[in-house]
Amino acid sequence: MSVSSFSLKAIVAVGLLTAAGLAMSHGDVTPQEVDTGSLPDLGKEALSENPFRKGNEHGDMHDEAIKVGESGYAGNCAVCHGIQAMSGGLTPDLRELTEWDDEYFIGRVMNGTGRGMPSFKDNLDQTAIWAIKTYIESVPEPM
Ligand code: HEC
Repeated sequence: MSVSSFSLKAIVAVGLLTAAGLAMSHGDVTPQEVDTGSLPDLGKEALSENPFRKGNEHGDMHDEAIKVGESGYAGNCAVCHGIQAMSGGLTPDLRELTEWDDEYFIGRVMNGTGRGMPSFKDNLDQTAIWAIKTYIESVPEPM
């Protein structure tokens, strides 16, 4: 092995350690603030339907909501529910939910379940939560 490839590995290793250190200093599941961009502020009162679904009140912002929701999901949900909402089996696969409606979703995310699902009420605003829902709906369902 040449000296240069060794030092490259060392540099990569240091970079990874630094990133891990930064992540850990904030705790394992610290919610990430979501930049909701140009999406409207939906206020605190829980809506009973996803306003960003096509045909609904803000359905014209559907595509923007998916983008916001994708990063919101990655920063807040993927750690437990899996990347692209593909659960590893320990948490519900969010693509597979059938018995839940929008109200069920917003309730779970705002209040948590007390059985491993944290409450996001104080950390995500409703705009971000519905954007995440819009993103999850955009992910293909499992076969
Ligand atoms: C710390 C791990 C963790 C994080 C972070 C997390 N969840 Fe969960 N979630 C769980 C667990 C565990 C359950 C199952 C809880 C239960 O059965 O009571 C769950 C359940 C749910 C449910 C109900 C599913 C069902 O089948 O009943 C929804 C909806 C949900 N999570 C959405 C989200 C969203 C959206 C995010 C990101 C904003 C998120 N979760 C972040 C662990 C997590």
